[in-house]
Amino acid sequence: MMEIEQKIKEAASYIQQNCTYRPKVAVILGSGLGSYGDSLTDAKHFHYQDIPHFPISTVEGHAGKFVITEHVLCMQGRFHYYEGYDMESVTFPIRVMKQIGIEKLIVTNAAGGVNKAFECGDLMLITDHINMLGKNPLIGKNIDSFGLRFPDMSEAYSKDMIETAKQVAKKINLSLKEGIYMYFSGPSFETPAEVRAARILGADAVGMSTVPEVIIANHCGIKVLGISCVTNMAAGVVEQPLSHIEVMETTERVKTKFVELVKTLVEQYA
Ligand code: HPA
Repeated sequence: MMEIEQKIKEAASYIQQNCTYRPKVAVILGSGLGSYGDSLTDAKHFHYQDIPHFPISTVEGHAGKFVITEHVLCMQGRFHYYEGYDMESVTFPIRVMKQIGIEKLIVTNAAGGVNKAFECGDLMLITDHINMLGKNPLIGKNIDSFGLRFPDMSEAYSKDMIETAKQVAKKINLSLKEGIYMYFSGPSFETPAEVRAARILGADAVGMSTVPEVIIANHCGIKVLGISCVTNMAAGVVEQPLSHIEVMETTERVKTKFVELVKTLVEQYA
């Protein structure tokens, strides 16, 4: 079987051979946030099925392509562990990003609000995370050319990028929350008891993505900014059943402000 390093190189060189843009900033667009990618002009589109060794995205609301312009690489659609992909597949695109020169990554997601001061539709800057999965995407042979066996995670979310994000939000008159993101595998939503436990452990939001990608980005020296869209209050916070429909409705409602924030951030970071 081909080594992972070889697969990363082949995927990266396919993109570089078919695209002259060399952006240094990438964005992962979470559920329902694909409209940022659609708004980019003069972009090159790479459908995942056309990139060598790429897994293929299946979940509703995820288109499944890289949209690349001079200043940004947009990942429209990501791979979730709950879809049945292994951690190597979930994080493969991050290593390809590194290989093609990405230095900064903005990760977005939909999340359930655990902090009772939050409201549905809030945007939260992720200041740190808690990995409740107990699985780490770096388990296995270390890829020494990408990073250390035991990478530091004490600034998993870049303080500099958070500071810039706060300034940008102020400039565009957008209010942002801040907090800790706790990663559950899904696909079932959490139980009310799990949400209470999450709160006791220090979480402000819960979700089913992001953490594997952030670990891999940190491993290979990509700086990360994380933004959660609180699409619903987590189970038990309000007396109401949870549904993916509610998640999609909220992202639809806030997408204009979310896209404006991401767009302005990319301009700052590029
Ligand atoms: N829990 C986990 N993931 C989510 C949620 C939630 O309540 N909402 C959106 N993604």
